[in-house]
Amino acid sequence: MTEYVKLIFGDREYELPLLEGTEGEKAIDISRLRQDTGLITLDYGFASTGSCASAITFMDGEKGILRYRGIPVEQLAEHATFKEVAYLLINGDLPTREQLTRFSVLLNDHSLVHEDMRHFFENFPRASHPMGILSSMVNALKSFYPALQSTEEEINITVTRLLSKVRTLAAMSYKISRGHKVVYPRPDLAYCANFLNMMFDSPVKPYAIDEDVVKALRVFWILHADHEQNCSTSAVRIVGSGRVNLYAAISAGIAALWGPLHGGANQAVIEMLTDIAEHDNISQVIERAKDKNDPFRLMGFGHRVYKTYDPRAKIMKRMAHRILEKLRISDPLLDIAKELEEVALKDDYFIAHNLYPNVDFYSGIVLRAIGIPTNMFTVMFAIGRLPGWVAQWKESIDDPRWKLSRPRQIYTGPLERKYVPVDER
Ligand code: SDX
Repeated sequence: MTEYVKLIFGDREYELPLLEGTEGEKAIDISRLRQDTGLITLDYGFASTGSCASAITFMDGEKGILRYRGIPVEQLAEHATFKEVAYLLINGDLPTREQLTRFSVLLNDHSLVHEDMRHFFENFPRASHPMGILSSMVNALKSFYPALQSTEEEINITVTRLLSKVRTLAAMSYKISRGHKVVYPRPDLAYCANFLNMMFDSPVKPYAIDEDVVKALRVFWILHADHEQNCSTSAVRIVGSGRVNLYAAISAGIAALWGPLHGGANQAVIEMLTDIAEHDNISQVIERAKDKNDPFRLMGFGHRVYKTYDPRAKIMKRMAHRILEKLRISDPLLDIAKELEEVALKDDYFIAHNLYPNVDFYSGIVLRAIGIPTNMFTVMFAIGRLPGWVAQWKESIDDPRWKLSRPRQIYTGPLERKYVPVDER
């Protein structure tokens, strides 16, 4: 039985349907609000506005819960491969052994990129940021693979092609930016190990696959795989609502992720920790973060949804300790991060604002230990998030209620006035 919310406006009373999600969260369906009342809603940043119904990821920001298709991220990080998680997000269930084998074969078949794409890389200025390169190259894939994406089969091939090639594109970008020989994907290596090999193998120093490093990367990517309607996923859905091809929608997601308030925070955290290491100024940094007149924010802290410790940050913090110990690396930035966390979590401002470490706070420590250059940290986030973006895009195009995204506005400009010729102004 549908429940309603009463809206009294002017001398009329309206009933707005109340929707309830699987986990009991409630939403007012305002899809007919303007049509019935002439009113619209306004919600900067969409803090109280849902854009869709989705069955992919569930987050409870107050309890620090994150589940992909109902499975807690903690269990997936502990037991699953990244391929299994990608399959789960996109298809709704974990793959059987046969489905996983077929998925692996397809990922391998589509791991190469067209040789002509090398010229694109070679013509970017050497100092280009890898996120700008990745966004451009993913968009360019449509030119090399123009096949339509209307049938389920065509969409599945495009999805698999993208999931596989994104690693190759990222590694090529790194190798070419350093003037090094490109390393091709190998059929005998699984998803994560293949990427590491493409990144770090070289004719003079063959890359030794270390299972601890592979596991660290696997957990990193699983933790980043999806996060419901975040900024970049919303960009993918909004751009996709124009019925543009998947490559263009994902390219928009990569661009949105680049920002330091979003996926670019992992790079910003390391830059912040490095600056603290140089100036030994944790207390000043905390004071700056609290100063309303200072635009500085404590990078890697705070979240639009989590008002408690980000469950991913807990796992990432453990992974940072584990990988540094396994590789016998001592990273002073980890100690600084832990000290910064300890000071912040005791500070009334952070407590009052429910500001806790998010996924980006410790992730950079893990990536440094793996050997990923800092300017590629957000590229690593993008590779991890790709299955989530794809799953959300697929869910949107399959949703019968989905339509072109076109928000309204409250106009605050001048009332009607006349054009004045230039010599009379
Ligand atoms: C990601 O949405 C997702 O799911 C994203 C993500 C994903 O997986 O896709 O989880 C990945 O993007 C994680 C977030 C990475 N970004 C950062 O670490 C950048 C630093 N954090 C912030 O800038 C901030 O916390 C946001 C942007 C993440 C969230 O901020 P909101 O929800 O827009 O809240 P707000 O900016 O309105 O801040 C509310 C209050 C303000 O104080 P008041 O004016 O109310 O007194 O909290 C303060 C803010 O000043 N605040 C901070 C702060 N974050 C919020 N103060 C200092 N340092 C911070 N980091």
